[in-house]
Amino acid sequence: MGTTHREPLAGRVIAITGAAGGIGRGIAQAILEADGDMALLDLPGSRLDEAASALGGGARVTTATADVTDAASLDRAFGEIVERTGRLDGLVNNAGVVRLGPADAMTAADIDLEMAVNVKGVLLTAQAAARRFGAHGGAIVNIASNAGKVGYPNMAGYNASKAAVINLTRSLSLEWAARNINVNAVCPGGVATDMLKSVADFIAGGDAEKSEEMMGAMVPQQLGRHILPVEVGRVVAFLLSDAAQIIRGQSITIDGGDTPY
Ligand SMILES: NC(=O)c1ccc[n+]([C@@H]2O[C@H](COP(=O)([O-])OP(=O)(O)OC[C@H]3O[C@@H](n4cnc5c(N)ncnc54)[C@H](O)[C@@H]3O)[C@@H](O)[C@H]2O)c1
Repeated sequence: MGTTHREPLAGRVIAITGAAGGIGRGIAQAILEADGDMALLDLPGSRLDEAASALGGGARVTTATADVTDAASLDRAFGEIVERTGRLDGLVNNAGVVRLGPADAMTAADIDLEMAVNVKGVLLTAQAAARRFGAHGGAIVNIASNAGKVGYPNMAGYNASKAAVINLTRSLSLEWAARNINVNAVCPGGVATDMLKSVADFIAGGDAEKSEEMMGAMVPQQLGRHILPVEVGRVVAFLLSDAAQIIRGQSITIDGGDTPY
């Protein structure tokens, strides 16, 4: 007697961009916990193989290289993934970059890079994945940031790019609902990754001890500790599951309550 318990992502294949980085690895771990199979994507030369072997998912994990700003490289990568796995059910748009400095010192190259990776990359990757989803549709989760809601000093381009991701999430959700593609976003606060370390280093101006202090100062205030990559991942895994069909076009803040909207 009793019902058969199936983990929420059993039988699904999820692609994760920026998967060699800190939050990407935590998302992969959470998807594995939810019994999903996955494809880890990142730039050529990134630590993708190391991320895959650290995860220990065996045959449930495949890797592919792609630059999210380049539609041709994405099309090739998603083609390879579907050839290997036979299906694609979900996408986590996690690749991202930050350029730090006062707004009046930002160069055109800084702004172009942030917009290219954080905004254009999200749309191009969503297009490439959506083309490979089956007739049953799929789910997409974009990794925005609470910076897209609040805005932080010395991150004007990043703040703007993440606000754009929040609205792009709404647009895709509305346009693709008819194809049964559910699109949501999450907005994490401080997660201790290389990206957050680059922010601490910038504020500390090259002083290693002060940089450590700044890492400590960037913990979500109400939580009193950094958010773990896998904690972001567990919210993402939920949003990829069928249980989240009633949540559409939302950008859910994950910062322990500092930004209560
Ligand atoms: N760390 C935080 O506190 C925090 C908070 C909120 C949101 N985020 C967001 O979470 C996501 C992951 O950040 P992280 O902290 O893990 O950073 P990270 O620097 O550890 O990882 C980012 C990954 O993106 C990859 N990437 C960069 N440009 C790419 C491109 N053109 N094509 C493909 N891959 C590319 C990098 O190679 C890297 O592996 C980013 O979108 C970031 O903006 C981070």
